[in-house]
Order: sequence, then C-alpha cells, then structure tokens
Amino acid sequence: MDKKNIWIVANWKSNKNLSEALSWVSVVGPRVEKRPNLKVVVCPSFIDLEEVKKAVLVGNFPLLVGAQDLSEYDVGAHTGEEAAKLLKEFVDLAILGHSERRQGGETDTDVAKKVLMAKTHQIEPLVCLQNEQTPVPDQVSLVAFEPITAIGTGQPDTPDDANGVAKKIKQQVPGVEVLYGGSVTSENAKAFLQQDNLNGLLIGTAALDPEEFVKIVEVSYGV
Ligand code: PGA
Repeated sequence: MDKKNIWIVANWKSNKNLSEALSWVSVVGPRVEKRPNLKVVVCPSFIDLEEVKKAVLVGNFPLLVGAQDLSEYDVGAHTGEEAAKLLKEFVDLAILGHSERRQGGETDTDVAKKVLMAKTHQIEPLVCLQNEQTPVPDQVSLVAFEPITAIGTGQPDTPDDANGVAKKIKQQVPGVEVLYGGSVTSENAKAFLQQDNLNGLLIGTAALDPEEFVKIVEVSYGV
C-alpha cells in the first residue's frame, strides 16, 4: 500500500509583510526535503503571493503556495474580490471556510460556491470544519478539522479525539484526507501525525516562526 500523504500547511493569516515573507521562505525552503508523500504548503496574505511564488520557483524549493480564501465570484465587476482564475497563477491550494471567516459571516453556502470556483480553476480546496457536522461540499478531497476552542488558544484537542473526529469525517466522505489544526506546535505535532486517520496539520501561530515550522516539518520525517 502507498504511504499516506502528509500535509504540513502554514496559515500566516494576516501577518508578515513582504520582507518577512521572503525571509521565511529563504529559511524554510532549503530545509524541506523532497519526499513523494510530503506536501508542505505556505499560505501568505494575497499581497505576498506573487513574490512568495517567485522565491519558491527561483529557489526550486519543494513548497506549494496557497491562498487563505478566494472569491465566490468569477472574474468581473467585483471590487475587492480575489477570483480563483487570477489566483491560479500563483497558488495550488486555497484554505476555505476557516472559522475566523465563518465568524465574520461566511456561510456553508458561501463555502460551497468558493469550492466550485476553486475546482473550476484547478485549485485544491482545503475546507475547514469545526466538527464532523460541518458540511463538506461536493468534490472536496481535503479538509481540516479545527475545533474553535483550539485555534490560537494554546489548548489543542487531544490527538485521540482529533483522530476520532477524522474517522467520522472519513466515514461520511470516503476518500477524503483530514488534517488537524488548532494550537499545533513542534512539541505536539508528532502525536497528531501518528494518528491513523490524520493526514497532516494546519498550523497558524507556530508557522509564523520559520525555525519552529522547520521543526514541525522535520517531525513529519520520523512518522
Ligand atoms: P493556530 O491556528 O495554530 O494558531 O491555533 C490554526 C488555524 O487557525 O488554522
């Protein structure tokens, strides 16, 4: 049997100006090993996407670039929106339905529309789920279980509970890969990555420090 994929996804949220972003890539890029089942993704703010993508290409680093959201609309007269067709130039993946966006009013219907846009333009949607009841739109094959109480609080879920929720999600959506997110650090990463039903990690705070993020990537080599 093929070894399962391990996704290590950095969500910078609304942090890092351009020079900080490029400095992070220059530290992390050379230290990520090329491994067939390892997918390391960095998700900068929209304004940093183009330069981060360039830095990854120039350095020939095994890093994928992702957006933290995208528009539910196609290209056109939509002031301030970021259309999937335009983002595709720079990104392989988009985080959709993050709870910080849902708290700002984003609905399951909005998320489903965004998934459709992502799929239309060959961007992999990574849909965030608060629990096993959050609907997973059609055609989604990558999700992150992110309990709200664990996000940015320093209080992660237990690996066992996360594994149990991931198992339920997989029963409902056969073939889906499930990541865990919420207060992941280099200290607890291994315990999550070792769970049978988890396929990786979505990391906020600990992904801001390049050294800490590299440590988490290195943990993945050993599982
Ligand atoms: P955190 O954020 O690692 O800071 O808890 C995770 C996330 O929001 O994706």
